[in-house]
Amino acid sequence: MKNPVRVAVTGAAGQIGYSLLFRIASGEMLGKDQPVILQMLELPMEKAQAALKGVMMELEDCAFPLLAGMVGTDDPEVAFKDADIALLVGARPRGPGMERKDLLLENAKIFTAQGAALNKVASRDVKVLVVGNPANTNAYIAMKSAPDLKARNFTAMLRLDHNRALSQLAGKAGVPVKNIEKLIVWGNHSPTMYPDYRFAHADGVSLKDSINDEAWNRDTFLPTVGKRGAAIIEARGLSSAASAANAAIDHIRDWVLGTDGKWTTMGIPSDGSYGIPMGVMYGFPVTCQDGEYTIVQDLDIDEFSRERMNHTLAELEEERQGVAHLLG
Ligand code: NAD
Ligand code: LMR
Repeated sequence: MKNPVRVAVTGAAGQIGYSLLFRIASGEMLGKDQPVILQMLELPMEKAQAALKGVMMELEDCAFPLLAGMVGTDDPEVAFKDADIALLVGARPRGPGMERKDLLLENAKIFTAQGAALNKVASRDVKVLVVGNPANTNAYIAMKSAPDLKARNFTAMLRLDHNRALSQLAGKAGVPVKNIEKLIVWGNHSPTMYPDYRFAHADGVSLKDSINDEAWNRDTFLPTVGKRGAAIIEARGLSSAASAANAAIDHIRDWVLGTDGKWTTMGIPSDGSYGIPMGVMYGFPVTCQDGEYTIVQDLDIDEFSRERMNHTLAELEEERQGVAHLLG
């Protein structure tokens, strides 16, 4: 039997937490032979802690053979102690009358504190995925607040956007999702993201050629994927949860277990590739092997793509400037 992996999850009693924890404990994220210890963080408020207790009771009632232990706490330093993987889901939601800037600043405080706690107590190889919005900038803040950890191990979730784009493409092209390769979502997890299927193919056939409909790309595909989160909030009265949890599982599974040469999208600190300034937390095409990701290089960037990539970059730069004073 393998040694258990310690997985920290914040916002564990929230919607995404409820869709995420049971799948992690059943082995869907790290494999059916990999025991896990769940280290769950919630706010100190009585209601949040009671809800967390209920989730832990349900986890217990599943009698998962791979669940080797559980910790429930309101202290980040307890939740992140020796964590190998940290899923930062909990975040301050946007309240009535709150501007995006207010949301950024409120979350900046949370992710500064959680980055510092990770820096202090997590495994030196901890892999961090930030789900809580604004995901890219929260991940950037956590990374900057954890100077002793590997910057490249802080990532933001673009995988839900990637999966949304896959399904839209599959529907348009009339091919199974699983046959589509080489799709990218560049940039920010926000409506400015750029889902790019210029290189995508299914069974060796270029989807750009088979779809051959640039108007569909610009007028339907890009806005549908970009505004999907808002469309789900409109329909459900709540933001996406099961699909977000599913994307988090996909992101970590691929990062840890590898993509077998296939491309996926991860929000990662730029290494300067494709003219994206160093350190910006940006959606890139990557492949993963042996627990490491590598940016897919040497892709041709046409004028339209460059314009879209710059547009989403400008938004990220603006968010970064908005929190710069908090990061010293
Ligand atoms: P939710 O409100 O149902 O749950 C969030 C939980 O986090 C709550 O239980 C809350 O008590 C807890 N929490 C808040 N601040 C915390 C903190 N500092 N420490 C620990 N716990 C804290 O929300 P949800 O639907 O689960 O969504 C969580 C986040 O994920 C939101 O920010 C949402 O916008 C974001 N989201 C991101 C994506 C993506 O693709 N990146 C997709 C969907 C949702
Ligand atoms: C999503 O993409 O579904 C969420 O990020 C939307 C949101 O604002 O919570």
